[in-house]
Amino acid sequence: MSDWLGIDFGTSNSAAAYVEDGTVKRIRLDRESDTVPTAVFFPLEEKSMAVGSVANEALIDRLEGRYMRSLKRVLGTPLMAERRTILDRKMDFYDIVAAFLKIIKQRSEEQAGRRFDKVVAGRPVLFDSRNADIDARAASDLERCYRMAGFDDIVFLPEPEAAALSVTGAIDTDALGVVVDIGGGTSDFTAFKKSGGGIDLAASHGVQLGGTDFDRALNLKFIMPCLGHGHSIRHGMGGETITAPNAIFQDLATWEKIHMLYTGKTLTLAKGLVRDAVEPDIFQRLHHTIDWQLGHEIAFLAERSKIASNSAAGPVEIDLKLLETGLSVGMNPADIETVFSGFTDTLSETLDDTLTRAKVSRDAVSHVVPVGGASLMRLVRSATSRVVPAASMVETEIFTAVVDGLAMHGEALA
Ligand SMILES: Nc1ncnc2c1ncn2[C@@H]1O[C@H](COP(=O)(O)OP(=O)(O)OP(=O)(O)O)[C@@H](O)[C@H]1O
Ligand SMILES: [Mg+2]
Repeated sequence: MSDWLGIDFGTSNSAAAYVEDGTVKRIRLDRESDTVPTAVFFPLEEKSMAVGSVANEALIDRLEGRYMRSLKRVLGTPLMAERRTILDRKMDFYDIVAAFLKIIKQRSEEQAGRRFDKVVAGRPVLFDSRNADIDARAASDLERCYRMAGFDDIVFLPEPEAAALSVTGAIDTDALGVVVDIGGGTSDFTAFKKSGGGIDLAASHGVQLGGTDFDRALNLKFIMPCLGHGHSIRHGMGGETITAPNAIFQDLATWEKIHMLYTGKTLTLAKGLVRDAVEPDIFQRLHHTIDWQLGHEIAFLAERSKIASNSAAGPVEIDLKLLETGLSVGMNPADIETVFSGFTDTLSETLDDTLTRAKVSRDAVSHVVPVGGASLMRLVRSATSRVVPAASMVETEIFTAVVDGLAMHGEALA
């Protein structure tokens, strides 16, 4: 039995697994599920943190407290060290991420009936593809969180490389494959060759772009305008108008920033916008959203509409009755395609770059290994077929291929 626990701490979902008698055993981290939503909820009245679907239900039931999702996106940023009062004590994001990882450790130990002090931790190829300092800080932040959670030995493995390890059975020897791991926060690629005993890695590359960015783009384009985004406010004495400030809408559409808007200061800002608005009724919805803390519910609406539109042939209607009775907004396929076109380009360019780094020609790739929830998006399939049109798709367990590979790597270390 391996001493190592594999943990895939994901932007949207996390998972844990280990190897016993040569077989990968996944931990049921959330009720009957092998994955747990990377979400936390701090109730106002109690002293304990809820995670996963319990946290999501607390949000849906509108319990009083603080909900957070997409914690991984905060790694490496100055927000990590900002202390705020939660559960009657000052906590920062190190404490919150460590507490989440500690719950994964405890649930794993309870189910496996043993201690895990060593972890093979997944990490994106690049936490931040634009800033090397933030990228390095994110990795050291995550390591610190694992240490705070009680792990003594921490080995990092890029998530797409772990996924490649877990699919070797599905690919012929000498075949060239490329893992396309599109998660909530990052898109990662690994080009690899199946060799006799395992895999030879050719190159990995990644970009900070994922399903939460797709949610955000749809939210800003279709929902936020119903709250005032892009609308005019009066400015100055002469009846001049300007466009309302952008930042509040950007933050409201960004999963990891939403909870930071629930302050007296933001509420005052929203009140001021209602007062100055050319169309106050529209900005009243923004005030209502901040006052009633509806930002995450709106983000979930954007996410659900994204998934619905991905398999719909025609327009998709977003029901916004939580803002106003009878309010809804339509998304038509052509507008969605415009919103996503830059993402498709970025993904195909990053995949192309990966093959260049691997010194592999496009024609030589015979298999694409899709991993991560957002790999189900049509835009990802278009980006992939633009670069490697002839490659065949390998069927994978899209939400757990990474954690399986992390556990397998742990077994090799033991
Ligand atoms: N059926 C679907 N169609 C399109 N997107 C989906 C579908 N199901 C889930 N997603 C999206 O997949 C993303 C989550 O995928 P996943 O759980 O693989 O990410 P993650 O591993 O947590 O993130 P990362 O690896 O980037 O840190 C979310 O943005 C979610 O909206
Ligand atoms: Mg992932």
